Amino acid sequence: MTAADLVVVANRLPVDYDPSADDGRGGWRRSPGGLVTALEPVLRAADGAWVGWPGAPDVAFDPFTEDGITLHPVSLTEGEVAGYYEGFSNATLWPLYHDAIVAPAYDRTWWRTYVAVNRRFAEAAADAAAPGATVWVHDYQLQLVPKMLRDLRPDLKIGFFLHIPFPPTELFLQLPWRTAVVEGLLGADLVGFHLPGGARNFLFLAQRLLGLHTSAHSDLDSCVGTVDVGDRRVQVGAFPISIDSAHFAERVRSPHIRERAAQVREELGNPETLLLGVDRLDYTKGIDIRLEALHELLDEGTLDPEKVVMVQLATPSRERVSAYAQLREDIERKVGHLNGEYGQLGRPVVHYLHRPVDRDELMALYSAADVMLVTPLRDGMNLVAKEYIACRTDGTGALVLSEFTGAASELRRAHLVNPHDLDAVKRAIVIAATEEPATAARRMQSLRTQVLHHDVDRWANAFLTDLRASGSGTTAAASA
Ligand code: ADP
Ligand code: F6P
Repeated sequence: MTAADLVVVANRLPVDYDPSADDGRGGWRRSPGGLVTALEPVLRAADGAWVGWPGAPDVAFDPFTEDGITLHPVSLTEGEVAGYYEGFSNATLWPLYHDAIVAPAYDRTWWRTYVAVNRRFAEAAADAAAPGATVWVHDYQLQLVPKMLRDLRPDLKIGFFLHIPFPPTELFLQLPWRTAVVEGLLGADLVGFHLPGGARNFLFLAQRLLGLHTSAHSDLDSCVGTVDVGDRRVQVGAFPISIDSAHFAERVRSPHIRERAAQVREELGNPETLLLGVDRLDYTKGIDIRLEALHELLDEGTLDPEKVVMVQLATPSRERVSAYAQLREDIERKVGHLNGEYGQLGRPVVHYLHRPVDRDELMALYSAADVMLVTPLRDGMNLVAKEYIACRTDGTGALVLSEFTGAASELRRAHLVNPHDLDAVKRAIVIAATEEPATAARRMQSLRTQVLHHDVDRWANAFLTDLRASGSGTTAAASA
């Protein structure tokens, strides 16, 4: 396999290996989550390489090419999946970076595994990259890779992008390995976040934990500031991620998706209002909040169970992490209560699917739904909100959106809500479902303009352009 000029390094490959697929013969399927949705079209267009875990323990594969992307699988043992992925990534960093909604666990053995696995990813990236190549490292699972990779391959341009929120500094300071994480990230030439607030938090920590010289720029620029690390100047910036908006807008117009959208509404009993939620089954997503809001609206008679139906898709996620297993029980109990009280034979009020659906079916659902419910307690961006908007080609539809998503800073004309305020969520659902059509259409038009103009290509180009320009500027150490 020839070395590549652009290498993406992410925890998961864009496809996951499922050993039980195809009657036990094993097979590949699309990986879950927003990172893959965003990066796949970018890398396919660039003929690049992708270094990542195949999604199952104890399987090893040689590099192979799929759909124009060379995939370099990094193999992990069962113990490494438990310590690095389920443990440190998803029971320490994930909750810590999402406002500690669930208490983060600090475990020294998990940390050691995280270090060892990050080193393996850095070595795999060093092998996959051509001389002078650009390597783009992604997300919280791989925060030590930039420094490790720089030590192995000082010739590379290294970028890092965080797909989840970067936490308030006082929360980050809880992390026993906080200094090593900041040092790891500073191995990059450009460190990117979704929002300027995260970038500013990181600048503060670089100065506070490592005593480094930092400077801050205006928020209007994607580069929010710089950190001087020896003779290198690291850029720190904000790059709100997006989707392949034109693809969604075009594909959703296909006759088979339109027909399916009409069929969905019919199968659901042609409700007056179809509410939709689409998420990984994650406690950050506020699925419980929207179910509680619906329950109260039905209890008090504001919504009529004869006229409203909700569809909730919840892709299984991180099922061996205990907070996720508990969440599943809670959500399924809430769905059961709602249907027990308000469903009829053959007509549940909430249709709950605990599995992924294919992209065309998802677009048909976006197209069929009157109101999209996106109510996370915290979310780095939330691409589902943008996908829904891109699919509303006729300008109808309404989006209820949590203020605590990255998307809320761009989608100001959505029905923004504080998900901790249940009455506000209920009010927003009712307004979204009943707003006068001309007002709703103006809202949707403004949301569509934002999403169609700020697509994933623009995001990737902004990041890669800043990355290629990085490394300029003279630090005090370099000029001494
Ligand atoms: P996260 O990265 O935290 O999962 P995002 O909203 O940013 O959240 O991205 C989720 C991605 O996963 C979107 O592209 C969405 O379409 C996809 N997705 C989520 N749930 C499902 C589902 N049940 N079936 C198919 N795709 C899903
Ligand atoms: O957006 C956060 C993230 O962890 C991404 O890295 C990934 O796309 C998604 O959530 C899915 O998570 P996991 O890889 O743990 O299934």
